Amino acid sequence: MASFHLPLRSSMAALPVVLCVLSCFLPELAFAKTRHYTFNIRYQNVTRLCHTVKVLTVNRRLPGPPLVAREGDRVLIKVINHVAENVTIHWHGVRQLRTGWADGPAYVTQCPIQTGQAYTYNFTLKGQRGTLLWHAHISWLRATIHGPIIILPRRNESYPFEKPHREAPIVFGEWFNVDPESVIQQALQTGGGPNVSDAYTINGLPGLLYNCSSNDTFKLKVKPGKTYLLRLINAALNDELFFSIANHSLTVVDADASYVKPFQTDVVLLSPGQTSNVLLKTNPNFTNATFFMAARPYATGQGTFDNSTTVGILHYGHSSIPIPATGIASLIPKLPAINDTNFVFNFSRKLRSLANAKFPAKVPQTVDRKFFLTVGLGTAPCPNNATCQGPNGTKFAASINNVSFALPSTALLQAYFSRRANGVYRTDLPARPIFPFNYTGTPPNNTFVSNSTSLVVLPFNASVEVVLQGTSILGAESHPLHLHGFNFYIVGEGFGNFDPNKDPANFNLVDPVERNTAGVPTGGWVAFRFFADNPGVWFMHCHLDVHTSWGLRMAWIVLDGPKPNQKLPPPPADLPKC
Ligand code: C2O
Repeated sequence: MASFHLPLRSSMAALPVVLCVLSCFLPELAFAKTRHYTFNIRYQNVTRLCHTVKVLTVNRRLPGPPLVAREGDRVLIKVINHVAENVTIHWHGVRQLRTGWADGPAYVTQCPIQTGQAYTYNFTLKGQRGTLLWHAHISWLRATIHGPIIILPRRNESYPFEKPHREAPIVFGEWFNVDPESVIQQALQTGGGPNVSDAYTINGLPGLLYNCSSNDTFKLKVKPGKTYLLRLINAALNDELFFSIANHSLTVVDADASYVKPFQTDVVLLSPGQTSNVLLKTNPNFTNATFFMAARPYATGQGTFDNSTTVGILHYGHSSIPIPATGIASLIPKLPAINDTNFVFNFSRKLRSLANAKFPAKVPQTVDRKFFLTVGLGTAPCPNNATCQGPNGTKFAASINNVSFALPSTALLQAYFSRRANGVYRTDLPARPIFPFNYTGTPPNNTFVSNSTSLVVLPFNASVEVVLQGTSILGAESHPLHLHGFNFYIVGEGFGNFDPNKDPANFNLVDPVERNTAGVPTGGWVAFRFFADNPGVWFMHCHLDVHTSWGLRMAWIVLDGPKPNQKLPPPPADLPKC
């Protein structure tokens, strides 16, 4: 039985007093620390659901080791590749201010780390505190290469909510009884949808509702009458998840490492790539008691999905109370229906940024650049002489403004930095659909997408508004869009087609939630704003990995600003080569 407690060794006591003479006026310098990690990527045989699969792991852990640091700290992670596959790691949600070389998406900011090679990611955690995640960012390797990023407040600062007695990361994942790489390779080859996963997991464990898993159930041991901070992370590949704990309500205090106005809820919805800190108050009257926590998908697409439930156990007291063999179902917390879009919409509307003097919401009030981008599925032609298993004998594809983004064979950031765009990328992604249609109505007859490496260029510090419009081509479906290098403010969302004349009047420019991953509502739209204050090349894509694989991705180039501290520095010497 594991009780989770995050250690944070401090070497502050050892800091010589003389340092303080220089830096006590600058609290950041006085307390900032450099933290070193080594990530060894290795093969490992992992057994779940009675299937042993050779998967890739970091430091032989699944989920991988947590990165723990404080706001203001510099983090150095040396990633060593001991496997045959190319690997990169992305620090999902880390702003990477002027450290785009450390962002990690393969062929976007770097060439992958090849067999026997290493690369040290080097960045500083600025202006963020909360929970994020790290994960592999090439093909589907993030299925087993992922883990928590825990950013604690600066040493002299506290949470803007009750101090928790303990903290515990809760990482949701997906388990396949086969190598996940074979699943996506087969799907891309046949053009059909990928096989669905065989289980969801909590901290790597499927839980006792699955075959062969009675001993593979996550257990969180708690004391009565205390407050626990749960750091929720959705690291699943392709599924948005509902989460709940029986007989307990949760207080949401943070989303994507930004504080929110606290609110209570029985159920939390997390899209892949999203994170949230929630407070769990344990009941003062329970001394020996056991409760289930559970997660299962929210899904609206037409494809097949894994509709199973992962459970963990919240355990009060010292002795384990046996769970009755009968009636387990009655102990599982109630979760919304699998397609309960109204719940999801209402939940996301409850998220408001703290927006106070200490943590202001710096929402762009005016807009320099507007983008209206359709996101959704489409098709690509089946190659000659092949038979394809996608819609009507085509291949599945996905696009932004009908462009399915082709990854280059060299890194975009390197091509941009060395001014060698020719033959690598173009800067012609349309800012709005070339052929407008009724996006959420009857789809057009021609569902073919075009295919290119088309980027958008933004001047430094432009204030940007993006409206993401879901389409109903091959079925309306929600898409969690993730933007690298920035947080954005979600100023509005709605169902149907976005109305540029009416909808902006209802935008929240006061306290919108600040995130890095926004769900585009099923059959609807979401609008967000941000300042393009971070020079580099930044990926944006659907965080359902199958949609990323099909091309629902793009990249923004943010130009350097005029001042020296507004420019992207040259790449580190050990940046991998293609
Ligand atoms: Cu979490 Cu580009 O990904």
